[in-house]
Amino acid sequence: MFKSVLVTGGAGFIGSNYLNYKSKEENIKIVNLDNLTYAANLDNIKINDNCDYTFIEGDICNADLVQKIFLEHKIDEVVHFAAESHVDNSITNPGAFIDTNIVGTFNLLQAAYKSWMDAPNVFREGKENSKFLHVSTDEVYGTLGRTGLFTEETSYAPNSPYSASKASSDMLVRSYFHTYGLPVVTTNCSNNYGPRQHKEKLIPTIIRKAIFQENIPIYGDGKNIRDWLYVLDHCKGINLVLEKGKLGETYNIGGKNERENIYIAKTICEILDNIKPLESQKSYSDLITFVKDRPGHDFRYAIDASKIENELGWFAEENFESGIEKTIHWYLEKHN
Ligand SMILES: NC(=O)c1ccc[n+]([C@@H]2O[C@H](COP(=O)([O-])OP(=O)(O)OC[C@H]3O[C@@H](n4cnc5c(N)ncnc54)[C@H](O)[C@@H]3O)[C@@H](O)[C@H]2O)c1
Repeated sequence: MFKSVLVTGGAGFIGSNYLNYKSKEENIKIVNLDNLTYAANLDNIKINDNCDYTFIEGDICNADLVQKIFLEHKIDEVVHFAAESHVDNSITNPGAFIDTNIVGTFNLLQAAYKSWMDAPNVFREGKENSKFLHVSTDEVYGTLGRTGLFTEETSYAPNSPYSASKASSDMLVRSYFHTYGLPVVTTNCSNNYGPRQHKEKLIPTIIRKAIFQENIPIYGDGKNIRDWLYVLDHCKGINLVLEKGKLGETYNIGGKNERENIYIAKTICEILDNIKPLESQKSYSDLITFVKDRPGHDFRYAIDASKIENELGWFAEENFESGIEKTIHWYLEKHN
């Protein structure tokens, strides 16, 4: 069946990887709505030649524009990535996070409801199979101690303006399912890494600073733990949830790859020592420098992905060590 899919934030890190993957599918038309913030890069988008693809530069906070896109492009499915996504920026400029992550998500939900349904639980003819997939984060669950995992049942306890804005958007998505019967699914994923990530994030920063032989800044004592997910594994998980996920449910997506930040930095340095040794014979790890910690820095995130694994048959194909090799090669090529 032919589908018209609206992807928001498709010029960002995960969105562009998703578009490149999704555009290989047949019988779809893709509309990418992105207002090209500093985090966007249109060069990251490599759409399959046979795909019917439209890019619209615009803001999800513009309700009239969003509604117009739904009508003009007869949207059947939404994959909603667009967000302000950097925790550090949410500490210095939280307003943008409230606008895009909360108001923008509300506009999309409302436009979907208005164009797919006549009343609560009453679909327009031909729109019965519509779907709205909301991409969220494990940061909504707050922080973990040394043990335990986030499951779909874990209570929300967001600690930064970023995670609080994403938690709010998750609640809006949930409410549109319960109040109107809007066909929604939500994914909460762990930290992504891989090609096309913005340079401000941890792994691109480590690789870039190492290549240019600058100090590699690591927050605090480097002992904070994240559960790393290779971006293509995430894109495949999102697509599976879009196709087979149960409406109204949430699915946690995680790579079962818990690593301390200092381990990440040392591993990248070791790989670079092997594939691009420094003329001085020194190790890139000499560049690692500990800097003042981020305020309210969550200690540990880790996801229990057994629901998506057992119910939908998704598994992460990359572990951190295999995914980081691919990632380093991609950045080496980019910086050359
Ligand atoms: N990167 C991660 O590790 C990670 C982890 C968990 C969840 N997520 C979630 O995944 C989604 C994508 O993350 P990412 O890392 O690709 O983000 P990103 O910051 O790389 O990209 C965000 C994209 O959204 C666009 N955008 C921002 N505000 C917009 C607006 N008002 N209107 C239209 N477009 C707008 C930007 O221009 C950019 O292209 C986000 O919702 C984020 O919360 C990311």
